[in-house]
Amino acid sequence: MIEECFVKNGAFEIDGVGLEAILREHPTPFYIYSAGAVRDRYKSLSECFPGFDIFYSFKANPNLSICRDLLAQGANADVSSMGEIKAALEVGFAPGDIAFVGPGKTEGEIEYAIEKGVYAIAAESQYEIGLIDSVAARLDKPVAVLLRINTLEEPIAPEMMVGGPGKFGFDEETVVAEVKGLTLKKAKITGIHVYSASQVLDSEFLATHLEYVSELAMRLAGEVGFELECIDFGGGFGVPYQEDEVELDLELVSEAARRVKQSIERKRPGCRLIFEVGRFLVAEAGVFVTTAIRMKHSRGKHFMITDGGMNDFTRPVFIRINHPVRLLNKITAKRDTECSIGGPICTPLDIIGKNVMLPGPEQGDIVGIFCAGAYGYTMSMINFMSLGWPAELLVDGGKVRVIRRARSADVTFPDQPL
Ligand SMILES: Cc1ncc(COP(=O)(O)O)c(C=O)c1O
Repeated sequence: MIEECFVKNGAFEIDGVGLEAILREHPTPFYIYSAGAVRDRYKSLSECFPGFDIFYSFKANPNLSICRDLLAQGANADVSSMGEIKAALEVGFAPGDIAFVGPGKTEGEIEYAIEKGVYAIAAESQYEIGLIDSVAARLDKPVAVLLRINTLEEPIAPEMMVGGPGKFGFDEETVVAEVKGLTLKKAKITGIHVYSASQVLDSEFLATHLEYVSELAMRLAGEVGFELECIDFGGGFGVPYQEDEVELDLELVSEAARRVKQSIERKRPGCRLIFEVGRFLVAEAGVFVTTAIRMKHSRGKHFMITDGGMNDFTRPVFIRINHPVRLLNKITAKRDTECSIGGPICTPLDIIGKNVMLPGPEQGDIVGIFCAGAYGYTMSMINFMSLGWPAELLVDGGKVRVIRRARSADVTFPDQPL
């Protein structure tokens, strides 16, 4: 992926812009994203899944410029907080194309979502349906509710959200007893939602998941007694972070989707079919870029100390994986030296590339940590140690745009007088 998308004539390039041109204007550390790569991803998904609506999961990368670009491609919005609803509206998503999903929605957030007229709210429990209904009744506004189901699917991925006891949704085996016969004043159950796992690379699992969820939706519509208007299949489409991981076989999932769609269309014409997708759309489009400000050699090991660390890019530490790493100024050179990359944070946890192979690492090298477009900036601890916030840059058609400015740390604490 790196070689295909980010190397031109032996040098690092992103959407037609070379490293020197970027560094001339923008000091490290920063995130840089390829608008073209996000668009290509959206196009491949929408072509693979005709008749399915793709809801972009803001949590993966809520930068408004990226969200706006995805809206222009035809995406809808999958949001999980009031902040994300506001961001989606600000960007221009129609309320009817926003789904509100998440395990800890407050009454205030539910009220905001109903007032704005979002497409649907996923309910995680009997209590939550009651809450959604009572808020809707107070506002005298109807609201569509999807039952989020913790299915009995076999767990296959580390970030599995179904299959066992968990904080998400109704257990499949008790949902009918919990929901059938509820008297709702303004809320209307219109479908189900099943988000099984994140970072799934097993295409067979996803294909089976589609069949499973569509059959479950039909059965629950009958047993609970609601008109099936929508099935939200979740998603979890993964990307390979490690060299031994294999890309998702989208074609296989696409064939299953086609079969499932035909069958639903026969039984429930007009039923809206939804995928929620974050990582797959944006992860591979982003690179975290930081400079080696020092080298350190300790007891036979090489360490590179960079100006950005786990404060700017927490994911490798949080998830405990190595993202793909290259020295951008030597991107095609032979990677012959084992080295660990750590930033300025005063903890041994701050290793954002552990024992990675690099070509003759030295002070001044520019480190690129790839697959950083999803759960990068947004999942990082940017206030830690008052080091300031990295910038976010978007490259589009040969031009680099700052889509979030770098900021020095706020050390004034205006609401906390010294
Ligand atoms: C309910 C729900 N929808 C969508 C997503 C986005 O997942 P991904 O970025 O893996 O596509 C998540 C991620 O945790 C989620 O919990």
